[in-house]
Amino acid sequence: MPYSPIGQPIHALDTPALLVDLDKMKNNIQLMAARCRDSGLHWRPHAKGHKTPAIAHAELRAGAIGITCAKLGEAEVFADAGISDLLIANQIVGQQKIARLVNLCRRADVMVAVDDPVHIRAIGDAATGVGVNVRVLIEVDVGMQRCGVPPGAPTLALARQAHAAPGVIFAGIMGYEGHAMALDDPQKEAACREAVQILSETRQLLQREGLPVEIVSAGGTGTLAFTPNFPGITEIQAGGGIFMDTYYRDKLHVRGLEQALTVLTTVISRTAPNRAVADAGRKTTSNYGTLPEVKDRTDVVVTGLSAEHAALRLTNSDLKIGDKIQFISGYSDMTVFLHDQLYGTRNGCVEVVWDILARGKKQ
Ligand SMILES: Cc1ncc(COP(=O)(O)O)c(C=O)c1O
Repeated sequence: MPYSPIGQPIHALDTPALLVDLDKMKNNIQLMAARCRDSGLHWRPHAKGHKTPAIAHAELRAGAIGITCAKLGEAEVFADAGISDLLIANQIVGQQKIARLVNLCRRADVMVAVDDPVHIRAIGDAATGVGVNVRVLIEVDVGMQRCGVPPGAPTLALARQAHAAPGVIFAGIMGYEGHAMALDDPQKEAACREAVQILSETRQLLQREGLPVEIVSAGGTGTLAFTPNFPGITEIQAGGGIFMDTYYRDKLHVRGLEQALTVLTTVISRTAPNRAVADAGRKTTSNYGTLPEVKDRTDVVVTGLSAEHAALRLTNSDLKIGDKIQFISGYSDMTVFLHDQLYGTRNGCVEVVWDILARGKKQ
């Protein structure tokens, strides 16, 4: 029989290893689902953070209507895992990807963001070629100045084109208020209100012009406290909060969710009373925005990450070589994609091992 860690205590795992506390994640999923439901909104959680179909299915069981993806390759993985309603909240460009997109539409109900006539023409031509219809959302720039057509007349022009294009179904609009995520609370609330107002007024304009706007999609974990409060949107994309992390807590001021994702790491060196080194560096965990935090210990602090090492500062600590500790990730989104597998744990033991199937699906 091959070795299986299932049923073993967490500390029996070799390191570094990526762990998720299943009870905490479930709680976070339920809280995020309830936040959307209680605001009368659909939840379409972004799956770019977990990249794991089993977790997407847990989100659907909690009431999510579908999944948001960043990449076409991610959407292909989720479709093959039986998830049909997929939003690729990104522009798909290039003949090869468009061919994959329209073929994906044969086996899943996919929506994709567009913000230029070029996208609509390319999708329409390819879709009619294979006999499918592709749903599109016009991405509107709500202030982030990343992708997105300006609101108002430019969005209307693009929506008309999408509505008229063979092979294309105009499904609505989306806008990501990424510029609001890291603001302090009074400014964040105002930025969210403004972003939703932009989407809401654009929706009304399109509807006055006779265009059906079924979907208005926005939101992220960093704005989940505010964006759902304002009228005009129909669904929320917030996803990463199911793991929580020190970045969401310290930089995006997210409250009320539990830190579920950790990296198990081993102390490999202790050359001074106040210093030690663990085997989880930047190739294992993230220092994007914030450093990882050591779980359940006040005597150990992470002071820096190099590629394969974490520098630890110790205070009156009995930590010794071979001891295992857990890091709460700096930013879960920049941590999970570094791993092949995610160990689901409960009450200190390993319950399930998931392959992170959409890992590496960058195209
Ligand atoms: C288009 C889009 N929607 C939503 C999100 C929010 O993601 P999360 O809730 O995982 O932070 C992001 C994050 O980058 C995004 O780019």
